[in-house]
Amino acid sequence: MKGLNLNPQLLRVPLYVAGKSAEEVREELGMEEVVKLASNENALGPSPKAVAALHESLRQAHRYPGIAERELRRRLADYHGAGFTEKHFIIGNGGTDVLRMIAQAFIFEAGESIMGRVTFPLYGLLTTMFGGTSIKVDPAEGYALDLPAMAEAVGPDTRLVWFCSPNNPSGLIIEQSEAEAFLDRLPDHVVAVFDESYCDYVTDAAAAQSTQYVLEGRPVVVVRSFSKSAGLANLRVGYGIAHPELIEYLLHTVLPFNTGGPVIWAAIASLDDDEFQERSRKLVEKERDFLFSRLGNLGLIAHPSQANFIFVTDVPGGGRAFADMMLRTGVIVRPMDAFGEPNGVRFTVGLREQNERLLKAVSETLNVVKEG
Ligand SMILES: Cc1ncc(COP(=O)(O)O)c(C=O)c1O
Repeated sequence: MKGLNLNPQLLRVPLYVAGKSAEEVREELGMEEVVKLASNENALGPSPKAVAALHESLRQAHRYPGIAERELRRRLADYHGAGFTEKHFIIGNGGTDVLRMIAQAFIFEAGESIMGRVTFPLYGLLTTMFGGTSIKVDPAEGYALDLPAMAEAVGPDTRLVWFCSPNNPSGLIIEQSEAEAFLDRLPDHVVAVFDESYCDYVTDAAAAQSTQYVLEGRPVVVVRSFSKSAGLANLRVGYGIAHPELIEYLLHTVLPFNTGGPVIWAAIASLDDDEFQERSRKLVEKERDFLFSRLGNLGLIAHPSQANFIFVTDVPGGGRAFADMMLRTGVIVRPMDAFGEPNGVRFTVGLREQNERLLKAVSETLNVVKEG
C-alpha cells in the first residue's frame, strides 16, 4: 500500500515461522497418519486438572478476568516457596509474551542484547523489533552457551543477556557455578534473562538455581511457561520471576487483560496436578534416553538433552532437506537453520510408538540420502 509511513525497524523483523501442524501436512501430502515431533509439545496432552478447570471457568467467559491473575501470582509464590510473594511474578500470554515485555522494557534507543548463536531465535527477533541490535556469541564445544565469551561481549550499550536453560535447541543446561561466575562480573546496567521453559525436565543437580538469584536481589528475570510440562501450549500462559521493583517496571509493558481468566484458572489447576507432572517428567526421562541411544546407533550425532527434545547435528544433506525428506514419511520434525545451525534438526520426545515411528523415518531418510 503506497503512501503509508512504515516503521523501517519493524520491516527488519523476520516473520516467525512456526513448525508445521499435523493438519497442514495431512492436507498438503494427503496423508492420514502424521506424527508431529517438531514443537516440543507434551506428548501426554494437557493436564487433566487444567482441562476440568478450563471447562468450569468458561461459564464466566462473558466477564473480564477478575481476580484470576492475582490468584495465579499468589499460587506461584506458594509453589516457588519461602521468600517469594505475589509481587515477584508477572503473567504473560505465554512465555513468549514475557520475553517480549523484557525486550520492550530494556531495548529502547538502540540498546544491545547478547545471545548465543545457536539458541531460541525469538531473542534476536524481539531485540530488532524494539530497535536494538543483537550480538550473537558462538557456542562452546558441544553447543553449550559460552558464558565467559558472553560476559566478554558485554559493553556500555548492553541491556540484556539472554540465557536459555535447558537451551533450545542443544538441550544443555547452564550450571550453577558458571551462572554465578557470570553474574559476579555483570555490570549493574545489564539484566540477565534465564528462559527456563523446559526446566521441569531437568534431572542434572548441577543446574543453575536461577530463582535464588532473584531472592538475592540480582538483576535477573526468570521466564517460565505452562506450555510444556503442563501441556497447555494452546492456552498461552507463561510468567516471569524477578525482584518486585523489576516486576513493577515490567508492568509498564503489559496490555490490560493480556491473558484470559479461563486459561489462568487452568494454569492454576495444573500447578496442583502432581500426578500429571510426574508422568510427564518420567515419560520424557525414559524416552529421551531411548531416542538418544537409538539415534546414536543409526550413526547420527545426537546431543545429550535435559529437555523434551534432542538436537542432532551434521545431518547428511543439511537440516532443512533432511526434515523435508522426513516429512514425506509423515513425521514432522524441525530443521534448525533459524536457530543458527543449518546442519541440525531437532526431534521432540514423544510416546514410545511415536519415537519408534520417528526412528524408522530417520532410518529410511538416511537410506535415501545414501542412495542419492
Ligand atoms: C526456549 C523457549 N522459550 C520460550 C518459549 C515460548 O513458550 P510459550 O510462549 O509457549 O510459553 C519456547 C517455546 O517453544 C521456547 O522453546
